[in-house]
Amino acid sequence: MSCYKITGGRPLSGSLAVHGAKNSVLPMLAACLLVPGQCVLRNVPDLSDVSATIDILRLLGCRVDREGDAVLVDASVLNRSDVPEHLMREMRSSVIFLGALLARLGVAELSYPGGCELGPRPIDLHLTALRTLGAVILEEQGVLCCQNGGLQGREICLSIPSVGATENAMLAACGCPGLTTILGAAREPEIVDLQNFLRAMGAKVTGAGGSAISITGGAPLHPAEYRVMGDRIAAATYLCSAAVTEGEIEVDGIEPDTLTAVLACLEEAGCTLHTDPGRIVLACSAPLRGVRQVRTAPYPGFPTDAQAILMAALAGGEGATLFVENMFDSRYRHVDELRRMGADIQVAGRAAMVSGAGRLHGAAVRATDLRGGAALVVAGLGAEGTTQVSGLGHIRRGYERFPQNLRALGAEIREIPA
Ligand code: UD1
Repeated sequence: MSCYKITGGRPLSGSLAVHGAKNSVLPMLAACLLVPGQCVLRNVPDLSDVSATIDILRLLGCRVDREGDAVLVDASVLNRSDVPEHLMREMRSSVIFLGALLARLGVAELSYPGGCELGPRPIDLHLTALRTLGAVILEEQGVLCCQNGGLQGREICLSIPSVGATENAMLAACGCPGLTTILGAAREPEIVDLQNFLRAMGAKVTGAGGSAISITGGAPLHPAEYRVMGDRIAAATYLCSAAVTEGEIEVDGIEPDTLTAVLACLEEAGCTLHTDPGRIVLACSAPLRGVRQVRTAPYPGFPTDAQAILMAALAGGEGATLFVENMFDSRYRHVDELRRMGADIQVAGRAAMVSGAGRLHGAAVRATDLRGGAALVVAGLGAEGTTQVSGLGHIRRGYERFPQNLRALGAEIREIPA
């Protein structure tokens, strides 16, 4: 079993350009299906989730090439409309292909994405949104068969601001004649990024970033080139890595406005921050202090994806912090692993009380999900002694050249092959 071997306590310093946002690029790759021609996405990170999405595009008949950080998707010819189970199982977010295939072909067949490591993740809102637009969806033995039952722009009300359901509805609406309005839409920056890409393709979309998005669909779209925004969760991970090692780093290629909630916590914990458009500089010269409360919430609230990462940083600091995870069940699986490193964390339902235990110590720990795995790396960078993090498959889903980037900043981290 391969693992990262980390010797903690080396202060990080230097600068790093953060890679493109995983959560932007996945729906954008699916959006390429809307156009019979070649789209070019730039700043596309080399991640296993991206490769899995490209596998699906190729299976559907697209020609997909990678040139450096660009991915070229030619969806001129599609020869099937179904995504088989083994590809759906790779990644829950591939449910986004439902909206894209429906818009392009008027038909889609996907196996049910099912649960995942964050607990049950239903797709009822996705299905209700598509049905509202006129899709007929049958669920039979774990397969979703989706057909055009008279697609037409309509008003969709989301009872929860689901990121995936908002994106699925946006893509489907591009293929529906007339006006679609998505009320209660998620407001995440990645949705604004998707809107901008769709606009580059000629789609009439407005309102992303707010809770009402309007799409006038049905008109043909054209191929486009687009640069994906920087990954705010990867940026948060590198910032927390610098903070736990009492280092100083500059992260480029990231809009500070997309990380306001995380930056506020780091500042409260004792870090000094300096921001400019496109860059964040963090310096930390003492152990992190506890912060009042960290409650995960839809954007612009504190992102659930940064919860484990900040928790790992604060667990090795001083003072107490109450975390409340409001977005997903089972999102405290990193806690047992952090305890092996000496962390003092008590979990009760959605709440986790972290009592800063001072410097953690190295241990053999295992990633059980993407961000929980990144959190263990952050903890290891700050800990005394050597930490071995296994379960790297989870971490590779969301971080490009993770050990290499950390090493370039002065960390002692090596990948030990199986
Ligand atoms: C996306 C992100 C993920 C992030 C999450 C929340 C991608 C590829 N993934 O996931 O990294 O952690 O947003 O910011 O962009 N829900 C329902 N029914 C549905 C859909 C969602 O009840 O049909 C619930 C979920 O269980 C969860 C909440 O809505 O409690 C938010 O989930 P959602 O925003 O949909 O997350 P994802 O789009 O899956």
